[in-house]
Amino acid sequence: MPVTANGTTTANGASTTLLNGQANGTSVQDAPVISTLPAADFNWKITLENKIIAITGANRGIGLGLAEVCLANSAAQIFSLDYMEPGEEFFALQKKNPGKVHYIQTDVTKEESVENAINAVVEQAGSIHGMIANAGMTRHQPALQFDRAQIEQLFNLNVYGAFFCAQIAARKFIELGVKGAVSRQIFTFYRQQTD
Ligand SMILES: NC(=O)c1ccc[n+]([C@@H]2O[C@H](COP(=O)([O-])OP(=O)(O)OC[C@H]3O[C@@H](n4cnc5c(N)ncnc54)[C@H](O)[C@@H]3O)[C@@H](O)[C@H]2O)c1
Repeated sequence: MPVTANGTTTANGASTTLLNGQANGTSVQDAPVISTLPAADFNWKITLENKIIAITGANRGIGLGLAEVCLANSAAQIFSLDYMEPGEEFFALQKKNPGKVHYIQTDVTKEESVENAINAVVEQAGSIHGMIANAGMTRHQPALQFDRAQIEQLFNLNVYGAFFCAQIAARKFIELGVKGAVSRQIFTFYRQQTD
């Protein structure tokens, strides 16, 4: 009978390896098959049906595009948490989706402002299921020229602002018993939910 490198004999001659901690003499073929794949009837379709989603900085640009994508995937309502007043593009999306697109004036660099906005979403829509921490900015200048005030401004918005939006939304999900999702732009995945 063929013998493998670690001394296991195999009936059919195929090479086999012992798993760590496996009893001597037991081949991999005898071990139970452990699959990480979901069940055969798992629903792979991603849908935002009935979902209420907050997107920071969605009054324009990428955030507004994300709002459009969420609506195209059946989201119930979108709330833009933005610092600036909305413009024509935002109003056009609002008009196209009556009752589904909202704006709450928010400064994502201030935790209290974000907390108030999330509370307002829940008050108005009854729940919240998603947060996309999209708001951000950049300065197009060489790294060698940045001073502390400029870099702090960027980090306050892009790093700390995004973190606290995620944290505040996650706390609200837990409070509401919602299996919510948090995402930084651009890719967002929502789990199938039972609530
Ligand atoms: N445009 C690109 O090609 C690109 C590519 C990759 C990443 N990004 C990054 O993505 C982010 C968004 O890009 P964009 O092109 O949509 O920018 P944008 O300037 O068009 O939109 C940003 C939105 O965020 C809002 N905002 C800014 N500060 C805020 C604050 N403190 N609180 C709440 N809202 C605030 C603005 O009012 C605006 O509506 C930026 O960080 C940008 O650097 C952009």
